[in-house]
Amino acid sequence: MTLTERDRRLLQRTFLDYQPTAEFLGCPLVIERAEGLWLWDREGRRYLDAIGGIFVAVLGHRHPRVMEAMRRQMERATFVPPLHAISDVTLDFIEKLSSVTPGPLEFVKPFSGGSEAVEAALKFARQYFRQTGRPGKYKVISRYHSYHGATFGAMAASGTGSRKAKFEPEAPGFLRVFPPTHYRDQFSSWEEANRFAARAVEDVIIHEGPETVAALILEPIGNTGGIITPTEEYFALLRAACDRHQVLLIFDEIITGFAKTGRMFAAETFGVTPDLLCVGKGISSGAIPLGAMIARMELAEAFSAPPENYFAHGHTYAGNPLACAAGIAVIDTIVEFDLCRRAEVLGALLRQRLEGLKRLGVVREVRGKGVLLGVELVRDTRTMAPLPELGRALKRTALKRGIILRIDPSWFAVSPPLIATEGDIEEIAERIELSLRDALDEVG
Ligand SMILES: Cc1ncc(COP(=O)(O)O)c(C=O)c1O
Repeated sequence: MTLTERDRRLLQRTFLDYQPTAEFLGCPLVIERAEGLWLWDREGRRYLDAIGGIFVAVLGHRHPRVMEAMRRQMERATFVPPLHAISDVTLDFIEKLSSVTPGPLEFVKPFSGGSEAVEAALKFARQYFRQTGRPGKYKVISRYHSYHGATFGAMAASGTGSRKAKFEPEAPGFLRVFPPTHYRDQFSSWEEANRFAARAVEDVIIHEGPETVAALILEPIGNTGGIITPTEEYFALLRAACDRHQVLLIFDEIITGFAKTGRMFAAETFGVTPDLLCVGKGISSGAIPLGAMIARMELAEAFSAPPENYFAHGHTYAGNPLACAAGIAVIDTIVEFDLCRRAEVLGALLRQRLEGLKRLGVVREVRGKGVLLGVELVRDTRTMAPLPELGRALKRTALKRGIILRIDPSWFAVSPPLIATEGDIEEIAERIELSLRDALDEVG
């Protein structure tokens, strides 16, 4: 699409997220309207949103039920100050969210997005050990290639250098380990690489001194690493290591939550229950900023007495009534229409079509669960060498073909809304293939 002089002037007065403005100007997108699986730019051209905004619109954009819930709430209250009150709909949201979280994860603190949820979980872990007689347990272990948010604590936990090196020194007390993908070429099977990666985490806990380690935080499926999808055994080994050393296991389900992986949370997909869960993105299907930190009830009890043990944390817009009304509508819709099952059905179809791209000779692997899928791109499947020019070209060709994906130079992710029909999935697959063929033509 073309930009006006005014657009260009105004784009010089702001920042896009995590990218140079010049790069955006080379491939601009100004959206005017969104509905269901579609986005329209200002020139009236429409794009198939195969990534739900950015892993957000699980029910598509502007789902009627979510819009109606917010409209009704707008007639009652749009703000209640969390410092001296809580809104009735926030209490309803707490009840609703805790009704769909795994087992003992019943304590809910609502926030306005993913970074806030992660930041709170990190502070919760440190404060928890401080007031249960183990103040020396403060270190946080996370993984390279991860992303947990943009704020200082969440950034320190993140393991993607290009997103944090500019702000160093980072907050102290954060350590990194490698995800299983880092070892995959050193082992004959993915299962062995996962076993090794999990044992390496326990080695770090032991060598740091378990009495100094508070938490291990990870995304069950790692997005910025290219939809890293470990084995169930990996999570079982990490759960056992955390139990052995009294380290809190935090799942960052900001991308994986809300039915995408075939269950409400990836914790259930992988059969492991964490101690803390961070959610965001899909929780409001993009209608309004919303997130939450969820904890095992018995951990939260350490904050109830004596009075000075209260959680010393909060945000003005957290638990906002309009956002909570949207969150309830999203959860009700997922449950009523059994969208977890739908994620499995649509995901199987999409995966089959993505596997078909292997005939182009530049796809190493299709990864993920349910409708959260990723495709790793390589120069050729003999050397498996990376071909970043291909991903860069794909960014341009996908837009020209009218499809929105999450594209990294060496992989791309797809995560269509769960309201998609089988026909929509076919169209997504078709547009992806055409875009990839165009990109291959571009790079020669
Ligand atoms: C896994 C993960 N955690 C945390 C965040 C931060 O969420 P937010 O951008 O809503 O602050 C993101 C955002 O992309 C994410 O993907």
